[in-house]
Amino acid sequence: SAGTRFEPGGGATVGGVAMTELAARFGTPAYVIDETDLRERCRAYRAALPGAEVVYAAKAFLCRAMASWIREEGLGLDVASGGELAVARSVGFPAERIVFHGNAKTPQELSAALDAGVGRIVVDTLAEIGHLAALVSFGRRQKILVRVIPDVDAGAHPAIRTGGEDQKFGLSIASGAAGEAVARALGQSSLELVGLHCHLGSQIVTPEPYERAARTLIELLGRIRDAHGVVLPELDLGGGHGIAYLDGEQGLDLESYARRVGDAVQAHAAWLGLPAPRLIIEPGRAVSGPAGLTLYRVIAVKRGLSRVFVAVDGGMSDNPRPCLYGARYTARLVGRRSSATTRTATIVGHHCEAGDTLAEDAELPADIRPGDLIAVAATGAYHHSMASTYNMTGRPPVIAISGGRARLVVRREEPDDLMRRDVGL
Ligand code: LLP
Repeated sequence: SAGTRFEPGGGATVGGVAMTELAARFGTPAYVIDETDLRERCRAYRAALPGAEVVYAAKAFLCRAMASWIREEGLGLDVASGGELAVARSVGFPAERIVFHGNAKTPQELSAALDAGVGRIVVDTLAEIGHLAALVSFGRRQKILVRVIPDVDAGAHPAIRTGGEDQKFGLSIASGAAGEAVARALGQSSLELVGLHCHLGSQIVTPEPYERAARTLIELLGRIRDAHGVVLPELDLGGGHGIAYLDGEQGLDLESYARRVGDAVQAHAAWLGLPAPRLIIEPGRAVSGPAGLTLYRVIAVKRGLSRVFVAVDGGMSDNPRPCLYGARYTARLVGRRSSATTRTATIVGHHCEAGDTLAEDAELPADIRPGDLIAVAATGAYHHSMASTYNMTGRPPVIAISGGRARLVVRREEPDDLMRRDVGL
């Protein structure tokens, strides 16, 4: 019963549970995660890339239940902060399967990562190499990857493009910084350089940029061998695998990604006389995004001069992506039958800000009215994790569906939660 179903009569279910029932039981707005579907996505990744290490990018969506699902499915975990690491540790996530990221890791975060015994730390600046080396306990060696810039432009929006030169992530190959980082890392006895990392950006829907990046990084592996006489065994190609947000859209096809990137790695390594490096990939959105949806209640419907506004009980606090990236979504009326023709409406939130829009051009029945329930699809990644408390709005709960049953995994944030950290006068 995995997956989300919308029936013409207004019936809508997630993993076999009616959305109306979820709204009644847990209130709105609410994030709903189809655990079964999410686990199937984890398995599909492992099956498509049996020789690779699949590391889920926690930033897309993380809570303790999620960390447990990822652990149980045998994936690794990419964490990018001390907070994400703490969640992973709280569920006993195997430390050797954790990859620690960040372009500006604090000394406390580096120490926490070392204390936890994380499997890989991805170094992102020259200075970090010396700092990290000095923090490693005597007699130990920390495995690291060096993050380099492959100079490949890909990704859906400038704010989520990280493969090109002159942005804050990674070390430039062209400028010589990447080569210098490698030399420095190899010179530190407390560090074990095991490979290279890159992350091109997000919401990439074709394998081609990954093939190019793989070739660029393998060429660097060849130059490292020639200069230092070492063959680095790992190649981390990051995440960024795109998903469909709108009807008719196509995400990155996992099978063709696996085949084409796998072939490119094999062929290019062979051409340079290198053993094929072990691949690491870091999908976030493609694992959790399609497994989630958000339920909202319609509060008000208003006719503007040239369009209709449908205002719901959530908004930019639970989904900042339309504001940040111009992201577009599919929204549907659920829970009742409507024979009205559909028309284009703008779904707006309840925040005190004119740009608080969830969908510019939603197709909704013309008789949409207060009290109706709306489901917005593909909100399992970068929604809960990017939610804010703007206007002192508590963040929505996360409800997990599995085995035809719903359970709360993160409760709704209440005004008391928000005030608890306000120490007063
Ligand atoms: N690995 C690294 C090093 C990353 O920086 C990221 C995402 C990922 C993996 C996972 O990327 P994914 O497969 O989820 O695309 N907030 C933006 C996305 C920012 C992604 C940042 N890094 C959004 O809502 O679209």
